[in-house]
Amino acid sequence: MLYDHLAVGPQGHLLFRGYDTVTLAREYGTPLMLLDEERVRRRCREYRQAMEQFLPAGSHPLYASKALSIKQIYRIMAQEKMGVDVVSSGELYTAVQAGFPMENAYFHGNSKTNADIHFAMEHGIGCFVCDNAEELDAIDEQAVRFGICQRVLLRLSPGIDPHTHEKINTGRVDSKFGAAISTGQAEALAVRALAKKNISLEGFHCHIGSQIFDCQPFCDAAVILLEFAAMLREKHGYILRVLNLGGGMAVPYTEKDPSVDYRENIRRLGVCIRETCSRLSVQLPAILMEPGRSIVADAGITLYTVTSTKQIPGFKNYAAVDGGMTDNPRYTLYRAAYTVLPASRMQDAAALCYTVAGCCCESGDILQENVELPPLVRGDLLAVLTTGAYNYSMASNYNRVPRPPIVILGKDGPYLAVRRETYEDLVRCDQ
Ligand SMILES: Cc1ncc(COP(=O)(O)O)c(C=O)c1O
Repeated sequence: MLYDHLAVGPQGHLLFRGYDTVTLAREYGTPLMLLDEERVRRRCREYRQAMEQFLPAGSHPLYASKALSIKQIYRIMAQEKMGVDVVSSGELYTAVQAGFPMENAYFHGNSKTNADIHFAMEHGIGCFVCDNAEELDAIDEQAVRFGICQRVLLRLSPGIDPHTHEKINTGRVDSKFGAAISTGQAEALAVRALAKKNISLEGFHCHIGSQIFDCQPFCDAAVILLEFAAMLREKHGYILRVLNLGGGMAVPYTEKDPSVDYRENIRRLGVCIRETCSRLSVQLPAILMEPGRSIVADAGITLYTVTSTKQIPGFKNYAAVDGGMTDNPRYTLYRAAYTVLPASRMQDAAALCYTVAGCCCESGDILQENVELPPLVRGDLLAVLTTGAYNYSMASNYNRVPRPPIVILGKDGPYLAVRRETYEDLVRCDQ
């Protein structure tokens, strides 16, 4: 089994953290998203402890809440003493509603409106991750109005290609995010920030991509940013305090993916940062990291009921389910690989190769291709693994399909963290 929180029960049902998935599906209906709270907490502690142990003083993780932004996750993050990053006023609002301490929140995004900036300051955001000069001026203007000195990190693009999927690769010079170091725009942005009385330039940020299995791209990015900081110190007398290396550590989605040792990656990163700072005579900055996927992805699974099967002789076999691209658009977007298990028939031998299709009126609504499963019939339960990140947060109401609930398996049992949307919810904004 891909993960240690999965097992098979005596009736041949998939057990998720010891709970029978068939029973959970009966109780809550399908599609159903399940999240293992203990696994999320364990991963938070793994990051926090490794960063405290191996990285310079003050280093800590921020949960990239775009991976899963619901009130309960912000409460868990607050309890685990994690910071968070938010990328929109909507995520920020959700964190505020959950009572998250906003001084530990970082506001990202390449396209913040004046309203976003005002909303964030009104709620006492800890730090802006500023993308460009126009945004910097807008933050400064409002900081003057609020009478505060606003903490800011500047988002830079270090020009690194970590060889992940094109759409989730963000650190290249031509990226829409941040100011490029190699073009001189990063230096100009830093100088502009240093000239502003109401801006406290804490340091720099980069995010080079997602699903990165190896620690080396993070080390390469750190070296480029530290060399940039050394240049700024020489030319402008600036002392770097914080370096935020973004998110992106990978998660295995299938048996073919290697496992990732987050602690060891952070240890190696620490060695690289200390060596580089020593070589450049740069004061050790506090390091921030922004894991999203690696905090929640493998804590989640989604259960679906098979609604029909179709064999097209000489072509393919379809199994259609009662969810799809509306709760998980990642296959449609990226051809993302997932592991699919026959949750109600785990002891039956795989006999057919299926395309698992969603319920939307869209040929591209596929959850996975080439899945070896026992012969399925209407009513069987399928489990798609590793759906904790970028599934619910990317979900839509296309075809007016209501979003599924999220049931969290906590230490005292399962509880509803997000209820299923109703048809009434679907028309709530319609006039
Ligand atoms: C700025 C930033 N930080 C952190 C993350 C989280 O990345 P991941 O979920 O791969 O850890 C992202 C993802 O897109 C991001 O854009």
